[in-house]
Amino acid sequence: MTANQFSCEGIELSLFRYPKQQESNLQAWDAADEHLIKHMLDTEQKSVNTAIINDSFGALQCGLSAIDASWPLCVETDAKTSLLGAELNLEANQLVSDNIQRFHSRELLPDDLSLVLMKLPKNLSYFAHQLQRLSQVLPAGTQVLIAAKAKTINKSILSLIEKNLGSAQASLTWKKTRVITCIADGNKRQLPQAVNWPVDELSLNISNLSNVFAANKLDIGARIMLDNLPEGEFNTVIDLGCGNGILGLRAGQLYPQASIHFVDDSEMAVASSRHNWQLNGFSAEKAQFHWDDCLTHLEPELVADLVLCNPPFHQGEAITDHIAWQMFVDARKRLAPGGMLQVVGNRHLAYHVKLKRLFNNCKTVASNGKFVILQAIK
Ligand SMILES: C[S@@+](CC[C@H](N)C(=O)[O-])C[C@H]1O[C@@H](n2cnc3c(N)ncnc32)[C@H](O)[C@@H]1O
Repeated sequence: MTANQFSCEGIELSLFRYPKQQESNLQAWDAADEHLIKHMLDTEQKSVNTAIINDSFGALQCGLSAIDASWPLCVETDAKTSLLGAELNLEANQLVSDNIQRFHSRELLPDDLSLVLMKLPKNLSYFAHQLQRLSQVLPAGTQVLIAAKAKTINKSILSLIEKNLGSAQASLTWKKTRVITCIADGNKRQLPQAVNWPVDELSLNISNLSNVFAANKLDIGARIMLDNLPEGEFNTVIDLGCGNGILGLRAGQLYPQASIHFVDDSEMAVASSRHNWQLNGFSAEKAQFHWDDCLTHLEPELVADLVLCNPPFHQGEAITDHIAWQMFVDARKRLAPGGMLQVVGNRHLAYHVKLKRLFNNCKTVASNGKFVILQAIK
């Protein structure tokens, strides 16, 4: 069996991570996905109106569509890469997606759901938020199945589910995973407020939705980047992997004539950046906000003279540098000749090797024990 061949209880699929060309043999699904699909088959679950939440690259959407091509699915995701990955995998398996309605992580889900399948996310504040969102639409008695590695399921996870949605009971372990069955109690919970904190030294206020990086304080990498932003006249700046938008906000202060483009894979990050731009009194015409995988779908004519980037070094649970690489490649494509990419990274990630390979130059402009700030010119 290859790393792309999913095989579970007679369901055979070819599943790829997104983007497809990754130098890794990581799988696009895990045993918790298999456990949920096995549970659907063992219980002879009928194809009722079903929500799927946190389906990394579409294994659950493909699995249920393979069981019944007309299974009505409402899919919720915060990650653009997960949406694109699922579409790619449905197509790769000749599964039509006419049965699928898509929602991002802030859209109200429909109120006629009969079943919910969920993967437990790493970020538990986000998980609580997702349960609260479900509590607003699920009738009492609706079954919510939450799958995860057995070692991550404990009493406090079960209490968190009970507090935010309804009673919860974990299954026996299968392939080191368990499925929690929650029964919605029909009581609507309030949605959480964004977390707000000031960056006093820059006179900025930051507001973070639950799935946004740097939940309640400035990231230390971002701080050293902020202390070392380049001087110059920049007209078009991209904050690539913007999170709450802190780098782009500072660019808005330093280069008031510039248009700033905020880009992130997380829809909540894009929403927080947009909110923070307004919150800090910047002019609406000077910023654009893009929910995208790196710079893949930005308008072709967009050319930048500065890209700021604090790249991620993991995708979901997997530690990987392929996103950083794709960010650098995309930044180079978008820069005008003479344009600059400025990156902050953990010293041990050795981003200078990648930048030299791509740009044929790379200057270290600042460093401390842990982080380096690198500049490459196109
Ligand atoms: C280390 S955080 C930096 C956030 C913010 N710029 C800061 O400095 O605090 C990396 C950001 O990259 C985003 N990201 C991850 N994969 C991405 C992708 N494929 N395309 C765009 N953004 C991505 C994450 O959602 C996260 O917000």
